[in-house]
Amino acid sequence: MVHRPKKAGKSIGLVPTMGYLHEGHLALVEQARKQCDTVVVSIFVNPIQFGAGEDFDTYPRDLSRDQALLEEKRVDALFAPSISEMYPAGYHTFVEVGGEITAKLCGASRPGHFKGVATVVSKLFNICLPDKAYFGQKDAQQAMVIEKMVRELNFPIEIVRVPIVREADGLAKSSRNVYLDAEQRKQALVLSKALAEAHSRIKQGERDVARLKEIMRAVIAASPQANIDYVEIYDAADLSDVEQVDRNVLIALAVKIGSTRLIDNLLVEV
Ligand code: PAF
Repeated sequence: MVHRPKKAGKSIGLVPTMGYLHEGHLALVEQARKQCDTVVVSIFVNPIQFGAGEDFDTYPRDLSRDQALLEEKRVDALFAPSISEMYPAGYHTFVEVGGEITAKLCGASRPGHFKGVATVVSKLFNICLPDKAYFGQKDAQQAMVIEKMVRELNFPIEIVRVPIVREADGLAKSSRNVYLDAEQRKQALVLSKALAEAHSRIKQGERDVARLKEIMRAVIAASPQANIDYVEIYDAADLSDVEQVDRNVLIALAVKIGSTRLIDNLLVEV
C-alpha cells in the first residue's frame, strides 16, 4: 500500500482513527492533505485500549459512510484492518509509555488505555511508514503520550497536533456525542462552559489552581446529569503538578453525562 509512494520519495501522512468520522477527524485529514503527497487514514476500533465495561461493543461504526467522506477529501488509501489482522491468536507484544504522563487524567481513570493506544499506534506506524502523523488536540494527553513514545523509541516520524473542532455552541466534536439524548446534549455544554469560565478567570488575573478547579466544579455541578471524573490543571509540557498558573497549562476534564464519558481541554499559554 505505502511501499510504492515511499520508494518514489513521496511523503506519507497518516491519520489514525477509530472511524465514525466527524469534522474533527476531517480537520486532521485536511492538514495531512496540505502537508503530504500521500495521505493514509486508518480506521480500527482498537479493542485493547478499551477497559472492561467500557463501550468497545457499542462504539459507533459506519465504514461505508466513512469511506465516502474520505473519498471527498481525496485520501489516497484507507487502512481498515480486522482485529485478527492486528492481533492474531497468540499476540503478546505491547508498548507501554511510563512516567507521570500516563499516570494522570485518563491514564488514572482508564488503566491500560494508553498501553493499548501506544501499541496500536506503533503497529500503525510500522505498517503505514508515515513521515508525519496527525492527532487531535481534543485528546491532548494521547498526543503527549504519542510524542513521548516517538521520542523515546526513535520513530522517524513528526507528530502534528491539530486544534479541537467544536460545534457552534462549544461542544467538542466526538464520535461519542451520538450517545447523548436531547437533554444530555444540552447538559454536555458544561464541559466547554467550565473551560471558558476558567479561561476568563485566568484572563482576569486568577492564578490559583485550586481556586480555578473549584470554579469549574461549580459550573459542572449545576448540571444534574453530570458526574465529574476529573477536573485538573497541569503543566502543559509534561503534566507535572502546578499550584499557580505561572507557565503554560493544560486544563483538562472528563465528565460523565448520564453513562457517556466526555473529555475536553484547553491549553492556556501565559
Ligand atoms: O484517537 C483515537 O481515535 C485512537 O485512540 C487512535 C489514536 C486511533 C488509536 O486507536
